[in-house]
Amino acid sequence: MTLDHTYIDALASNESKTVTLKGWLQNKRGSKGLYFLILRDGTGLCQCVVNEGEVDAASWAAAANATQESALAVTGLVRADERQVGGYEVQATAVELIHKAEEYPITPKEHGIDFLMNHRHLWLRSRRQWAIMRVRNRVIMSIHEFFQEQGFIQMDAPILTGNAVEGTSTLFEMDYFDTKAYLTQSGQLHGEAMAMAMGRIYTFGPTFRAEKSKTRRHLTEFWMIEPEMAFYDLDMTMQLAEEMLVRIVADALRDCKAELEVLERDTAPLERATGPFPRLTYTEAVDLLKSDGTRRMVTDKIAALRDEEAALATERETNKARYGQAKKWEKRKIDAREIEIQTRLTDIEEQLRNLPKWQESADNFEWGSDFGGSDETLITWHFDRPIIVHRFPQEFKAFYMKRDPEDDRLALGMDVLAPEGYGEIVGGGERATDLAFLERQVKEHGLPEKVFTWYFDLRRYGSVPHSGYGLGLERTVTWICGLHHLRETIPFPRTLDRLYP
Ligand code: 4AD
Ligand code: MG
Repeated sequence: MTLDHTYIDALASNESKTVTLKGWLQNKRGSKGLYFLILRDGTGLCQCVVNEGEVDAASWAAAANATQESALAVTGLVRADERQVGGYEVQATAVELIHKAEEYPITPKEHGIDFLMNHRHLWLRSRRQWAIMRVRNRVIMSIHEFFQEQGFIQMDAPILTGNAVEGTSTLFEMDYFDTKAYLTQSGQLHGEAMAMAMGRIYTFGPTFRAEKSKTRRHLTEFWMIEPEMAFYDLDMTMQLAEEMLVRIVADALRDCKAELEVLERDTAPLERATGPFPRLTYTEAVDLLKSDGTRRMVTDKIAALRDEEAALATERETNKARYGQAKKWEKRKIDAREIEIQTRLTDIEEQLRNLPKWQESADNFEWGSDFGGSDETLITWHFDRPIIVHRFPQEFKAFYMKRDPEDDRLALGMDVLAPEGYGEIVGGGERATDLAFLERQVKEHGLPEKVFTWYFDLRRYGSVPHSGYGLGLERTVTWICGLHHLRETIPFPRTLDRLYP
């Protein structure tokens, strides 16, 4: 197909040619007889220079009338200019105003997170969201490539199901023609059936959990990738998860340089995310959590945060003192910095409030309970790359997990924890293969046996060792982008208190 316009990311191959760009007006500056229009088209940004003397009256009026986020078509000559975003600019010969935007609610001044979330449909146009969505896209493609190259078959598990997978407390229940149905919590069980048909499969789909708590790690609708492999044991599965993550991170580092720069992501921790990932048993992780090393780390962290807090307070005083005499552009700079300082200070305050609590809960942690978010954070601080924790107490693990033949108290599960405090991004393990054991488990977990009849069949007809895991897409993107909260990694987040837009 031939397009009648050119994308900004293709300007390099159009130097000295006349092209038409189509996009939205991100920003406009002007002086007598001259406008600089910053056009955004999704592939990049480009400065378009409009001289009154070089365009007709209609074009000049279009440039003059264009407001922030107006839709424009700009025709002109492509010139290399290192100083410009993207390295090119367009000297306009014609400007067409496709749609004049009303006054745009998101202005260059800072907005609070609630305001931005309520305007998510527009906020997606911002530079930062652009960067995150492109990293998300790269991660999605890497996952498909990784599995497809090895011959895994992608399968779509049902979204409407009759069964719980991960406990009954987070089910979204609905009326399904007079019987109960749920939005799927995980495609795993159906994935297991498919693995017995195809060998190695992976699902890539939306999953739902009625998470009733507000945390920065939980969405009610998130995307999960769930490989399931016949004839894989726990070790092979940990190896696969590691290779997949190494691949995802390497691809992002190679292909998303500009995006990670926009996000001001320190890439050093990502560059270290090469194999092998340290592996420790749950028991070893508990010992580490309760160690003197953890206490020392927390003390050091508190001291560092206090120092940073003091430095920011000083900077803020200096800025305040300068403000009165500052020029207009300097004031704008100080204002912007003030917002950054405020955001960081709030963050530091929160951490200083949390750290003593985290330490306390680590001290009181008892073997046999599940790690909370803060426990995972403290454990990951001991390492410079992702780690794999395996062999958990079976009490808090799902009904389908195989027991450790060496110690019946343990389930052959594994979690991959991302470094820098991010915590669990992968959960999985080896599946129970014995029919009688599974029937007992379903009863003990208080699950209705009837809906698992088909699942039990998998243990009747050629039951084999098999394993799999689930990777949380949003948690992975959050870590790669170095974000504080999951909510920016999905176009339209769904949480306890958000269904709009
Ligand atoms: O550890 P989970 O609950 O494991 C399962 O669902 C298994 N059935 C997967 C399997 O073995 N096939 O969830 C897997 C991953 C977590 O590690 C996390 O990354 C993500 O899914 N996840 C969530 N992400 C965002 N919001 C939530 N509420 C999430 N719950 C789980
Ligand atoms: Mg888990």
